[in-house]
Amino acid sequence: MNKRPRIEGYAIISREGMIATSDGSYPEQLRIPADQAFFHAALDRASAVISGRHSADDGPKPRRRIVLTRQVQRIVPDPGNPNAVLWNPATAPFDEAWQKLNIDGGMLAVVGGTDVFALFLTIGYDAFYLTRALVSVPRGRPVFPGVGHGVPAEDPLKKHGLVLKEARMLDPVTETVLQEWGPQ
Ligand SMILES: NC(=O)c1ccc[n+]([C@@H]2O[C@H](COP(=O)([O-])OP(=O)(O)OC[C@H]3O[C@@H](n4cnc5c(N)ncnc54)[C@H](OP(=O)(O)O)[C@@H]3O)[C@@H](O)[C@H]2O)c1
Repeated sequence: MNKRPRIEGYAIISREGMIATSDGSYPEQLRIPADQAFFHAALDRASAVISGRHSADDGPKPRRRIVLTRQVQRIVPDPGNPNAVLWNPATAPFDEAWQKLNIDGGMLAVVGGTDVFALFLTIGYDAFYLTRALVSVPRGRPVFPGVGHGVPAEDPLKKHGLVLKEARMLDPVTETVLQEWGPQ
């Protein structure tokens, strides 16, 4: 039995709490070099990455991966990627998906989108890194369901018992701030 990984979430959001535009594309304003460097360093530390089926690939490096989809039963190898499995969380628990990767512990990077970030609020984050950019994406896909229209992105984190551990300026030029949330 492989050890459960440390689970870390990574998101960059607009002022309004959006991770993507309404049509599901990645907002160019959110491509902030300091955040990209932070994110890619995290991916390099990760033993695997987990995401929804539409979330952008994390670059050319082959990584172990769990992809969420409702199109399969339980967990099956990804026919298009020998490093990945497809997981339907309504039909099989997370621990079973993790065992299928056959990795002992390490860190699993949760990289979105919206429903995937939300699912792991209940499975449990060991850390959630929330990058706040001072750019506007007024409508679109929020980091968690219900965020936006006056509901701050931090609300679901607090509701699930996470507390702000640290906030630091990631990029003074764009005033991009990185918040680290974790269990009490
Ligand atoms: N700013 C950021 O930090 C950030 C982070 C992540 C993504 N993004 C951007 O956000 C956009 C995509 O986000 P998104 O939320 O639309 O897509 P997503 O989560 O990547 O993909 C959605 C798909 O994933 C599957 N899925 C998600 N949750 C599931 C669940 N609980 N159970 C089973 N399947 C599940 C479904 O696939 P099936 O249709 O196959 O069932 C669903 O259609 C992209 O532009 C991406 O680049 C930005």
